[in-house]
Amino acid sequence: MRHPDIARLVETFYGRARADALLGPVFDAVVADWPHHFAALTGFWAAQLRGRGSYHGQPIAVHRAQAHRITPAMFDRWLMLWDHTTAQVMSPPDAEALQARARRIAAVLRGAMADTPAWSACPMGGGT
Ligand code: HEM
Repeated sequence: MRHPDIARLVETFYGRARADALLGPVFDAVVADWPHHFAALTGFWAAQLRGRGSYHGQPIAVHRAQAHRITPAMFDRWLMLWDHTTAQVMSPPDAEALQARARRIAAVLRGAMADTPAWSACPMGGGT
């Protein structure tokens, strides 16, 4: 999978996430520097897929810090958009690999939100 393909995927996906009624307000509230965010995400996915790339961030800490804005339903919506976008802009085997990888990461991120104060207070927080 070539780097420009990943950059295009990331820009298409986050364009849609920003326009989404559920996810958009979270990104609007948090992300000020979109070029920086695109570069971080492109590096993240390149590192995921090839075991190299230029990502040195801490996605768990980053999402935990936003736990008061993020809900379990947002993860379902995020994955639905990701499935849709990867299927449109990547080849079928690449799309499948990206979808499977995102599901595993989403489960880890979601699990890591469960004991934050915002999610502990919510009966749905740690569950489904
Ligand atoms: C509930 C769904 C999600 C929401 C609302 C969400 C929201 C956000 C926001 C607002 C940021 C920027 C945080 C900041 O700059 O301080 C961010 C960063 C990021 N997100 Fe998500 N996210 C979600 C799910 C995911 C998933 C499933 C993945 C991976 C499969 C992911 C990967 C990342 C990465 C890699 C970063 C960059 C962290 C960094 O700056 O190093 N996110 N997310």
